[in-house]
Amino acid sequence: MKKIAVLTSGGDSQGMNAAIYATVNYGLSNGLDVYGIADGYQGLIDGNVIHYTRPIGNISHLGGTVLGTARCPDMRTTQGQQKAVQTLRTHGIEGLVVIGGDGSFNGAKVLSTQYGIKTVGIPGTIDNDLAYTDFTLGFDSATAVVADAVNQLRDTMSCNKRTCVVEVMGRDCGDIALYAGIACGADVILVPEVGFDADKVVARLQHNAQCGKFDNIIIVAEGIRSDGTLDKGHEADKVMAAIVDKMPDINIRTMVLGHLQRSGNATLQDRLLGINMGIHAVECLVSGKTDRVIGVRNNQIIDEDIVEALAKTKRFNDKLYAQAQALTAF
Ligand code: ADP
Ligand code: F6P
Repeated sequence: MKKIAVLTSGGDSQGMNAAIYATVNYGLSNGLDVYGIADGYQGLIDGNVIHYTRPIGNISHLGGTVLGTARCPDMRTTQGQQKAVQTLRTHGIEGLVVIGGDGSFNGAKVLSTQYGIKTVGIPGTIDNDLAYTDFTLGFDSATAVVADAVNQLRDTMSCNKRTCVVEVMGRDCGDIALYAGIACGADVILVPEVGFDADKVVARLQHNAQCGKFDNIIIVAEGIRSDGTLDKGHEADKVMAAIVDKMPDINIRTMVLGHLQRSGNATLQDRLLGINMGIHAVECLVSGKTDRVIGVRNNQIIDEDIVEALAKTKRFNDKLYAQAQALTAF
């Protein structure tokens, strides 16, 4: 393999830039011709190709993605896919590194299974919703943003004896809520994998009140409804309304952390994970091991067949969830 390209697609995440950095520089140092595709699959369809003739640097820490990203409906069509493939053929690009979430990986799967393009996926999404890997790029950074924000929020909530319902991202996955909730000692953590039982939450708040605790933090994952329908930015309000219905005198507010979770510098863990995954992706391509996705399992970088990896179902850590609830019960 002589020519490879890298693109970032779908929702951006911290750590994507670290993966770009490693893919480009490790590719160049392995004697490859390396290209970047701007704005994900849209750039591939439009022929928006950058040729890296020198190593790049000073980007691994940055949030967002220097290549730009996009959601690209055309990539789901045969016409769009053919244009994307044509761009790769025009430049003689043989291998494509796709950094993104499960949607982007589905695009890569189509390119490899239907058009014979040699792909390698790097999991870049704050949601941590891919079953084959313990962690995705951006999850650690987004979770750290949530934990820090909630710790800060406690200052005003505590002195006002208020409860706050904090909505976090994650699509249908409750991992951001769970891990951040543990890190900041949330009183209640609501995730789609478990669902929302207003009576249980109210019982907990009433118990806390009887113990003299009126400043509660309730973390709610945006995908809380177990029917899988997302109502971003409104779940916290709905949870608050259900609580107020049963506790009309409660002093309660909501906060939606939103896209702040995808912004700011990557944590050290995401930088190192991105760099190690980028290196592994290049090694896969160079050794002819293609149509793979890179992951991390038990602290080891691994790769797996893209079709098999996408067929797996993400398992929620019920044990950790139960432990989290027990930590703040008193
Ligand atoms: P993420 O990669 O973060 O999960 P999306 O689900 O929005 O984000 O997917 C990113 C892009 O991947 C989509 O905009 C589309 O261009 C491409 N994509 C998603 N699913 C498919 C599919 N089944 N076939 C082809 N391309 C797809
Ligand atoms: O997939 C990452 C993610 O940040 C989800 O957590 C969230 O639901 C979604 O993307 C937000 O998408 P957008 O940036 O298009 O509003």
